[in-house]
Amino acid sequence: MRVRVFFASQPDSETRARIAAAAAALEPKAAVPSDNYHLTLAFVGEVPPAIQDTLRHIGASQLGRAFSVRFDRYEHWAKPRVLVVAATDVPASLHELWGALHADLAKHHLALAPQCLRPHVTIGRKVSQAPVLAAMSAFDWRIRTFSLMQSTTADSGPRYTVVDTWRLLDEEAAR
Ligand code: 2AM
Repeated sequence: MRVRVFFASQPDSETRARIAAAAAALEPKAAVPSDNYHLTLAFVGEVPPAIQDTLRHIGASQLGRAFSVRFDRYEHWAKPRVLVVAATDVPASLHELWGALHADLAKHHLALAPQCLRPHVTIGRKVSQAPVLAAMSAFDWRIRTFSLMQSTTADSGPRYTVVDTWRLLDEEAAR
């Protein structure tokens, strides 16, 4: 048996509502349920369950800082056929966390092919044709934690469960 896993951050309830409001303005055909919203940090893919200890160790050893991401536009990605809310600016701490996770995964031969960091939250799937994309009301998401997530496929679509969660160092909260 293999399980599909990835590192991601999940929104707090306020941010979840903001993403849902942004999604509602576009009315995507196969809207992603708001419980499934996430910001993928590193996709690992299908691995034997025994690898989870290694992944937990990688998650626990991150020393990253909390950061805010400003989501400011909609995008349609033709190949995966998704609608996303995306961020134009990539905060340095997000880039560092993304780089550190991929470097640590690569040390264990677990990183997928090199890819670039494009911060986004998928809000609609199976969207073959690019809709007219209105301007989006920008919102900020303060990311203080990230998780190792497991994805299973139910009849109703993917279902995500949290395997473990780690805190990022939040200097703003400590002040
Ligand atoms: P996304 O919606 O943030 O793009 C779990 O499968 C999640 O991992 C998906 O929701 C998707 O996140 C991301 N994902 C799936 N396949 C991927 C791949 N081949 N490369 C990168 N990310 C992938």
